[in-house]
Amino acid sequence: MAHSFYSFAISLFIFLVAIHLPILAWCSGSGFSVELIHRDSPKSPLYDPDSTPSSRIRAAIERSRSHSIYFRNAIHKARRSSSALPMDDANNFYSEITQSNFEYLMSFYLGTPAKKVLAIADTGSDLIWVQCVPCKECYNQSAPLFDPQSSSTYKTIPCNTISCSLLPQRSCHSSSQCDYKYGYGDKSIVKGYLSTETIGFDSTGGHSIQIPTILFGCTHHSKGTFDKNDAGLVGLGGGKLSLIRQLGSTIGNKFSYCLPSSTEASTTSKLNFGSNAVVSGSNVITTPLISGSPNTFYFLHLENISVAGKIVSIGKPMQTNESAQGNIIIDSGTTLTIIDDNSLQSVESSVKSSISLPHVNDPNGAFNLCFDVSGIGASTQFPEITFQFFGGASVVLQPHNAFVEVGQDILCLAMISNGATADSINIFGNIAQQNFHIGYDLANMQLTFAPTNCATQ
Ligand SMILES: *[C@@H]1O[C@H](CO)[C@@H](O)[C@H](O)[C@H]1NC(C)=O
Ligand SMILES: *[C@@H]1O[C@H](CO)[C@@H](O)[C@H](O)[C@H]1NC(C)=O
Ligand SMILES: *[C@@H]1O[C@H](CO)[C@@H](O)[C@H](O)[C@H]1NC(C)=O
Repeated sequence: MAHSFYSFAISLFIFLVAIHLPILAWCSGSGFSVELIHRDSPKSPLYDPDSTPSSRIRAAIERSRSHSIYFRNAIHKARRSSSALPMDDANNFYSEITQSNFEYLMSFYLGTPAKKVLAIADTGSDLIWVQCVPCKECYNQSAPLFDPQSSSTYKTIPCNTISCSLLPQRSCHSSSQCDYKYGYGDKSIVKGYLSTETIGFDSTGGHSIQIPTILFGCTHHSKGTFDKNDAGLVGLGGGKLSLIRQLGSTIGNKFSYCLPSSTEASTTSKLNFGSNAVVSGSNVITTPLISGSPNTFYFLHLENISVAGKIVSIGKPMQTNESAQGNIIIDSGTTLTIIDDNSLQSVESSVKSSISLPHVNDPNGAFNLCFDVSGIGASTQFPEITFQFFGGASVVLQPHNAFVEVGQDILCLAMISNGATADSINIFGNIAQQNFHIGYDLANMQLTFAPTNCATQ
């Protein structure tokens, strides 16, 4: 009797393994990686062949400013209310934004049969969503809309569920479906039904991965400045609805990315999950990820910025409870590094006195400190700029992490002020993160940097 039960169990196990092979293949401790495409790379549908380094940086400055406002308002809002807001709340945390406000794209598959979706990858938000049929008041999208009725695995989520309660803004229809409203900027809001679907990825190793029952938003109304090439968004934040938190222990609560220098526009970056996201080596630097509010954002504590050995100490964490709050958000979707006015002025004056090139004004009027590099020679020295994070974690920036070319022979310090108000938040932007493999370990709440040539990774 026992014997036949075991053989039944074994055949059942083999059957399950056969069905779920792609899932088990990486559940058993391996990881996977997907391509991350920068919006301005030739592989991106947003690529504009007529753009120049200076037009791209101008647009990136606008996007960075808008992100800074978004982060600040989201933090204010999270502090004011810990409970979910009703849908009709007009006081949303939205900022002015220019066209598409995001930096990176990634592909994934949704539904059964699977449909490929090109979407924004965003470490600054949680919800995964796509535009769904019917989408009457939606931004214009070039790829076909996702049709939930043509997928056998699509399910909506009822209102009275824990999943629904994870949404910051929700309401219930008479049909008891869970309605959401999720915002990014003044003009960018998506609304729809919280649902579940099978989601899939093409791993860069060549195999494909499928994960059943991932919560996502089927967007039926959208407003704002998304690009027609974005069919949705993948939230990679720290909140429970994000792809990272939903994959949870199956990826060991770990993800990482390695962003190549923006001058190497044709190379793509990788977004890694699970064991592929373990950042190791002799020169790794580790600092705690600090739980903050909202839990979407990845807060760190920046103690100092040192310029050629001169220390600029950064203001205290923005909330009274120091142990619980960081003073800087690390975000892959913000180009520039944004710091408080006093610290920025001190950093600028140290940089200014340690570079012997002539100063010029930024033609865009965005940066305070720019140099004419037409006469640059082998003897021109750039100071070592180091971000010293809590725990003695010194992240040494290379010149390409700290300076951007804004026009012919004009190089500027790639940092802007957060507007000087006391409760503004600092942001560690993606130029500063280039050529570091950066691992987010949400199980141990640690962030790890390893200097890496990301173009050859
Ligand atoms: C949407 O895009 C299509 C194809 O690109 C175009 O024909 C149509 O005019 C656009 N509609 C709006 C409202 O922009
Ligand atoms: C600060 O936050 C920590 C962790 O959340 C908590 O344990 C502590 O009680 C808080 N302290 C104050 C003064 O609020
Ligand atoms: C920041 O600077 C202070 C004062 O020089 C120093 O004591 C501290 O160790 C520095 N912090 C880090 C993380 O290096």
